Amino acid sequence: MNINSYDCLLIVDFGSQVTQLIARRLRELNVYCEIHPYQNVNEYLLSQLSPKAIILSGGPDSVTRDGSPRAHPVIFEIGLPLLGICYGQQVMMQQLGGEVKSGVGTAEFGKAFVERKNSSDLLKGWFLDQKEQVWMSHGDHVSSIAPGFEVFGFSSNAPYAIIGDTNRHFYAVQFHPEVHHTPNGQTLFENFISIADIEQNWTMEAYREVAIKKIKEEVGSKKVICGLSGGVDSSVAAVLIHEAIGDQLTCVFVDHGLLRQGEAEEVVTMFKENYNIPLIHADESELFLGELGGQSDPETKRKIIGRLFIDVFQKYANKIENAEFLAQGTLYPDVIESVSFKGGPSVTIKSHHNVGGLPEKMGLKLLEPLRELFKDEVRELGRELKLPENFISRHPFPGPGLAIRCPGKITRAKLEILRRADAVYIDQIRKHGLYNEIWQAFVAILPVRTVGVMGDGRTYDYACTLRAVTSVDGMTADYYPFSHEFLSETATRLINEVEGINRVTYDITSKPPGTIEWE
Ligand code: XMP
Repeated sequence: MNINSYDCLLIVDFGSQVTQLIARRLRELNVYCEIHPYQNVNEYLLSQLSPKAIILSGGPDSVTRDGSPRAHPVIFEIGLPLLGICYGQQVMMQQLGGEVKSGVGTAEFGKAFVERKNSSDLLKGWFLDQKEQVWMSHGDHVSSIAPGFEVFGFSSNAPYAIIGDTNRHFYAVQFHPEVHHTPNGQTLFENFISIADIEQNWTMEAYREVAIKKIKEEVGSKKVICGLSGGVDSSVAAVLIHEAIGDQLTCVFVDHGLLRQGEAEEVVTMFKENYNIPLIHADESELFLGELGGQSDPETKRKIIGRLFIDVFQKYANKIENAEFLAQGTLYPDVIESVSFKGGPSVTIKSHHNVGGLPEKMGLKLLEPLRELFKDEVRELGRELKLPENFISRHPFPGPGLAIRCPGKITRAKLEILRRADAVYIDQIRKHGLYNEIWQAFVAILPVRTVGVMGDGRTYDYACTLRAVTSVDGMTADYYPFSHEFLSETATRLINEVEGINRVTYDITSKPPGTIEWE
């Protein structure tokens, strides 16, 4: 099976933090799509991809600024259906003869409501309840539309919230239909796909076949080592690669001393029992904890862990003759927040340790077969590859492990308290049957000690915070609404069962504006 046998939709990236969500929405609709930064989209790329439609993403810039990104003119000349989103709409209007304004009264952030002005094929299934809730995030707005366009919908601050030129199949919206806060956004994409006559036949089964073929081609007869973290991502990557190249793969499980209670044993047993993949268990906790000692800056911690991971892999790679590739279970959310996707222009939030490329001196090439997938797509791929369900449904665990759940200085004592607290908390969640309702849950130990009273004595111990979020992909998240009974029962258990903790808080920040992890 070949990627070219699928209809392709091209997403031109202008650097929005949520561009990949457009791809997600389309994949949920079983449409094959590729994201390319706007600078790379030209006649050549279009002839290579032969897309059936193009979406122009949002972006952080203002088209009113000199030198801001523009779409290659060929995009408007090639005769394909187009959908512009936010900055994509503004760039479209600016380039096709409309106008965009910035300044007072042009911005709109957060929830907004759009009303119908005219009907359109793009809006089938919309406005059934008169107004549609949408998510706006724009500083500028379109003040005059380009010739040939008409208005289909408007909001209080976006007179041209939905516009289109039906003859050319050019459409544009000021809001973000790709985010969950636009509840009917998916219908809009579905309508656009139907206008573009794109076949909806892209599935994880198809992805698996294509990925295996690509891995075989890329690796040839060379050897691969895979960094196994015990999480779903690296495990799915390992099993996928193993399916492609068999024993040319060796897995290295690095125990950096920042794992959860019992995790190292669980992972090694799981892999030994279920798979016949050669596995090296590298206990490097002394090395990692030694170098992390005394460090409290989040980025410094991440950089140290990232560097040591590479060093350790290098050490084990050297023992494997002909090892030419290092495989990692890097996912798209890791990529977009570290470096912009495929070179696009978005802003860095956190430097996730497992992306960013390997130093030349390592002499290893990166193999990242999950780099364009979201978490739930990886789980689906895992099911496709027959990984055990209890393993697939585990909450995500970050590569830097407990280090980023221990703000301030990391000490062995604090890590031990954190491990015990986390085990109690997860046990509570499981006992109450909530584990699968929650996307990710963990404890963070805070760099603050508080005064308490237990029995007749004074205590001066650490405060911790509980985190539990619901999310689809880790890009946005809401805190989980535990009952007060659950929270108080859990707090009591933590204080009674975990020596070193005398205060429990619950983190009710959503993402954005927070992030899921504390660092
Ligand atoms: P944030 O904190 O950025 O986390 O909202 C989003 C998701 O990514 C996980 N995460 C990481 N995963 N390496 C990883 O493999 C990292 O450096 C890293 N940092 C955060 C986090 O646990 C959450 O699931």
